[in-house]
Amino acid sequence: MKDYKRTLITAALPYANGPIHIGHLAGCYIPADIYARYLRAQKKDVKFVGGSDEHGVPITIRALKEGVSPQDIVNKYHAQIKESMQQMGISFDIYSRTSDKVHHETAAAFFKALYDKGLFEERETEQFYDEKTNTFLADRYITGTCPVCGNPNAYGDQCEKCGSTLSPEQLINPRSTLSDAVPVKKKTKHWYFPLQDYEAWLKQWILEDHKEWKANVYGQCKSWLDNGLQPRAMTRDSNWGIKVPLPDAEGKVLYVWFDAPIGYISATKELTENWADYWCREDTRLIHFIGKDNIVFHCIIFPSMLKAHGGFVLPDNVPANEFLNIEGQKVSTSRNWAVWVHEYVKDFPGCEDTLRYVLCSNAPETKDNDFTWKDFQDRNNNELVSVFGNFVNRTFVLMHKLCGGKVPPLHGEVLDDADKAFISDIQQAPARVQAALDNFRFRDALFEVIDLSRKGNKYMQEKEPWILAKQLTADNPDREASQQKIDNCLHLCLQLTANLAILINPFLPATARKLLHMMKVVERMLDWENAGKLNLLSVGYSLRAPELLFRKIEDAEIEAQLEKLRAGSGQQPVVSDQSSVISDQQAVVSGQPSQVSDLKPQISFDDFSKIDLRTGTILTAEKVQKADKLLKLEIDLGFEKRTIVSGIAAHFSPETLPGKKVVVVANLAPRKMRGIESNGMILMAEDREGRLVFVAADNEAPDGAAIR
Ligand code: MF3
Ligand code: ZN
Repeated sequence: MKDYKRTLITAALPYANGPIHIGHLAGCYIPADIYARYLRAQKKDVKFVGGSDEHGVPITIRALKEGVSPQDIVNKYHAQIKESMQQMGISFDIYSRTSDKVHHETAAAFFKALYDKGLFEERETEQFYDEKTNTFLADRYITGTCPVCGNPNAYGDQCEKCGSTLSPEQLINPRSTLSDAVPVKKKTKHWYFPLQDYEAWLKQWILEDHKEWKANVYGQCKSWLDNGLQPRAMTRDSNWGIKVPLPDAEGKVLYVWFDAPIGYISATKELTENWADYWCREDTRLIHFIGKDNIVFHCIIFPSMLKAHGGFVLPDNVPANEFLNIEGQKVSTSRNWAVWVHEYVKDFPGCEDTLRYVLCSNAPETKDNDFTWKDFQDRNNNELVSVFGNFVNRTFVLMHKLCGGKVPPLHGEVLDDADKAFISDIQQAPARVQAALDNFRFRDALFEVIDLSRKGNKYMQEKEPWILAKQLTADNPDREASQQKIDNCLHLCLQLTANLAILINPFLPATARKLLHMMKVVERMLDWENAGKLNLLSVGYSLRAPELLFRKIEDAEIEAQLEKLRAGSGQQPVVSDQSSVISDQQAVVSGQPSQVSDLKPQISFDDFSKIDLRTGTILTAEKVQKADKLLKLEIDLGFEKRTIVSGIAAHFSPETLPGKKVVVVANLAPRKMRGIESNGMILMAEDREGRLVFVAADNEAPDGAAIR
């Protein structure tokens, strides 16, 4: 590696159109923060910048829907996101925002510089336009009927039902999602950046000179470059964003992906007057932390812009993570299938490090990964509480009991093989952690730290100082030797505790601070150069009583979170052997008389109106192989046929079902059960004997009629 003088770390600017969820944390903020803390502990010259991305279509849409101004939207979410970041210990040197004046000036000047070089190509094209709201429509803001499968709610770029890639022209009965207006074509002029001119250079720079980039990042870049690059419009028609700094550009703003990455530069400017050291000097190392959906922008488009402008450093690495799914499903903010950070900190106060731990040790570093609440609980209880926390706690309790609350001496002359092996474990750990961190392998690095505490437990278990303590009676001639063994054990365990504080600090900063407090040592001890040392705590120094580092997470808390997830998204209970019966009281079904269940908390009319209930008729029913509760049903909804998997096999034989009228939750997200995709849920109730009966409209409503 080159001899760099300073490092600039950036983390993707989140859109200020909603709160952040744990996918954001796992994707880039936690790895970026660990890396920043690690470099700071090494006393490197490092700046860590971030901020809110406050432009772009999603923000204007949100504003339109809520009937407020875009500025109101970004003010609200910028504040909320910033607070969540702080609460989770994401240690930005600055958390800025792209509506800031410095940013507007910086981005406009950047655009103007490229314009003055004659780089942009001006092109006139026709685009869809909503005449009711006077807005040009991006493809995904046009909906209509899919020409392939007849789904009435396909998007202008894709049908989520059948997966077809579409263009707005192909939709039957296209409508604007903003107003229901029929989109019309309208001429518009934009400025295109000639990305294709940078293809050869990018191929050399990425594919040849940066073979060390993570495989997922390198692979995505390669496929973009292999497919060939096209000119890309860098302006949009909108009144929200950074005005195009040209005389004939009324109603035009910079494309959000043009301005947002420049936000990293603007944030650095706001942070320090020496900003140019971090952006314009070859001996600066620039690292972008992002999620995988941002790869093309950070590896191809922004570097080309920087190159075109000239005078800026290029990223040395872009360690992008893949996605974190939740309980086996993709995060979806629209379906509220997410774990929101501001809710987590409220539900688990003081457990921020636990979330950091779980999201790092299970980070989607090489492939998409799954967050489950059960795994969260297991990792907390079995690793943080039982291994790390337990080691520290035992060490402190025994030191108070057997060594008078002071660091005991080390009797070098009586060290045995186990002591020596333990010492060498402590000495070697930092290099292992470091090797992983230097290569952005945060999971491995964290594993090494926990593994070291596991070795501490094992050592303590072998030494059994509490047994040795029984030999300290006055009449025992070996009394002295036993005390020496106790001293050595606890001396080394205390030195390990100090080492653990240093090594865990980038990952779990609050835990490291608690350890400092217990050991009565100053922050400086956490300097990385101290890792591996065995003299961090001086002999005779008195230490505080142990503090609780991590608390146990109870089953009930996990169940509450699962329930919240389910209720928030309007889905079935999250349990492994899943049926799609709506009843929450599956237990009741087994023959006991039914009871009236408690009313759920009140919901708004808006909540209710999100549920699309339709009448339907069962066409066919068959058992699902190897699943004795499940039936696979074909339902006629009038406008389409649906497959729904339902957990009612114990209550109905399949041949009795065809022809039955049912009510279907028709807009429930699809889910797979035993390999079959279920597209909805059938409403059921229990009769007095606790048997399931269909809820159906006793009238002439045809299949597909909406129930309101
Ligand atoms: N707001 C974008 C997203 O959430 C990320 C912008 S990163 C930046 O996907 F570089 F453009 F700032
Ligand atoms: Zn379709």
